[in-house]
Amino acid sequence: MADICIVGAGHVGLVTGACFADLGNEVTCLDVNAAKIAGLQQGKLPIYEPGLEELVERNAAGGRLRFTSSYPEALERAEFAFIAVDTPSGSEGEADLSAVRRAARAVAEAMTHDLIIVNKSTVPIGTGDVVSNIFARHVRSDVRFWVVSNPEFLREGSAVQDCLQPDRVVLGGTDRAAAERVATLYEPLRCPIIITDLRTAEMIKYASNAFLATRISFINEIAAICDQLGADVKEVARGMGYDKRIGPGFLEAGLGWGGSCFPKDVRALSHMAAVHGTHPGLLRAVMEINQDARRRMVHKLRAVLEGLDERVIAVLGLSFKPNTDDVRDSPAIELARLLQHEGAIVRAYDPVASENAGALLRNVALCASAYEAAEGADAVVVATDWNEFKQLDLRRLRRVMRQPVIVDGRNVYDPAAMRALGFVYVGVGRGNHAVPPETRPPQREQPATP
Ligand code: UDX
Repeated sequence: MADICIVGAGHVGLVTGACFADLGNEVTCLDVNAAKIAGLQQGKLPIYEPGLEELVERNAAGGRLRFTSSYPEALERAEFAFIAVDTPSGSEGEADLSAVRRAARAVAEAMTHDLIIVNKSTVPIGTGDVVSNIFARHVRSDVRFWVVSNPEFLREGSAVQDCLQPDRVVLGGTDRAAAERVATLYEPLRCPIIITDLRTAEMIKYASNAFLATRISFINEIAAICDQLGADVKEVARGMGYDKRIGPGFLEAGLGWGGSCFPKDVRALSHMAAVHGTHPGLLRAVMEINQDARRRMVHKLRAVLEGLDERVIAVLGLSFKPNTDDVRDSPAIELARLLQHEGAIVRAYDPVASENAGALLRNVALCASAYEAAEGADAVVVATDWNEFKQLDLRRLRRVMRQPVIVDGRNVYDPAAMRALGFVYVGVGRGNHAVPPETRPPQREQPATP
């Protein structure tokens, strides 16, 4: 069992720390935000993440997970120091490294014995060398250090599961023995562990996120074409997904991607490419298509309601995706603002993100339920695919609305069923449905028994 210090008690740091503690390690999570640490010491989590509260509680009670703002205390017995601080977008789209630099310097100045530094923050390619240089400048001459890159792939909303059952672990370093020691921490998870060089590990993270964002933008472009040509993008994606070379994931058309990672990472990769003399045409198109997906929704509402001025619109879902209260770069928030811009009166409901959204929205009535939001509405827009919206009493919803218009920004409903219920239904690339779609995958024909 190892002694681990995690610098940064945000989404990545907390989940990683709690999971390592659950695997039996001694973990100290450090954050410079003293209020956050005080809250955590009393069992109060600064983020909403399914399963995390229980994990933190259990391991804190077991004495394996501690919280502090003191570097010397956190590093006292540590063999590994994970850096998991945020790298927000700077003004040009570049990743802002100030928090990583500060954390690296603070660890370097406080460490009193040999240490493996593991970088989990998403950082521009080459940052591992920057971190090494910071350590080389600030560390005591009698201690040694090794820098290993270990990019994080966890998703908000399923972060604990992603952390404990990863598809793979990526480690990059200049010293193979150091990377192999980090690998031992992950061995209990029984997943593929890739050991490579620093820059390649850093690039794997950006390339993975950019590829996933590309898939979504790709299917959104296909959806826009489906809208014009009368094909159903959901069926198209299903038909594509059976091809093993393509696979079914990340092909859901809709309002597009948002959150704290995809927008920042695609921007940062595109910026890195451009400042190193490459023309990142595909990445730029991927971002542009994503912006268009939000704007096209406004166009659809304007068309179906014959104008937006003083139309009452209920936005269902405000978080950037379901099962999180995170509203950073949420397509739903931008949609609400764009609608207000054109004079619409916006009402909204989200199962958990209303408070966070309230800080970003002005003059939006934040309601206690989907039905309350739909009261007197000219249209309901599904902006986030929370499960709750798939199970609404749609007759009740229609009764409280002024006009029975549903604009389904996440394709959660069946167009034919909605029309049968008396709704005017507009989805994303759902075609004309002249032929009802097959609901089950076709069964393979049984050979005749002799
Ligand atoms: C993502 C990566 O998946 C994760 O590996 C990385 O570590 C951080 O960034 P996350 O931001 O939590 O995770 O969200 P994810 O579940 O990947 O969804 C991103 C966005 O894409 C959401 O806005 C979601 O609504 C949208 N999305 C996803 C689609 O529009 N269509 C899809 O088919 C899938």
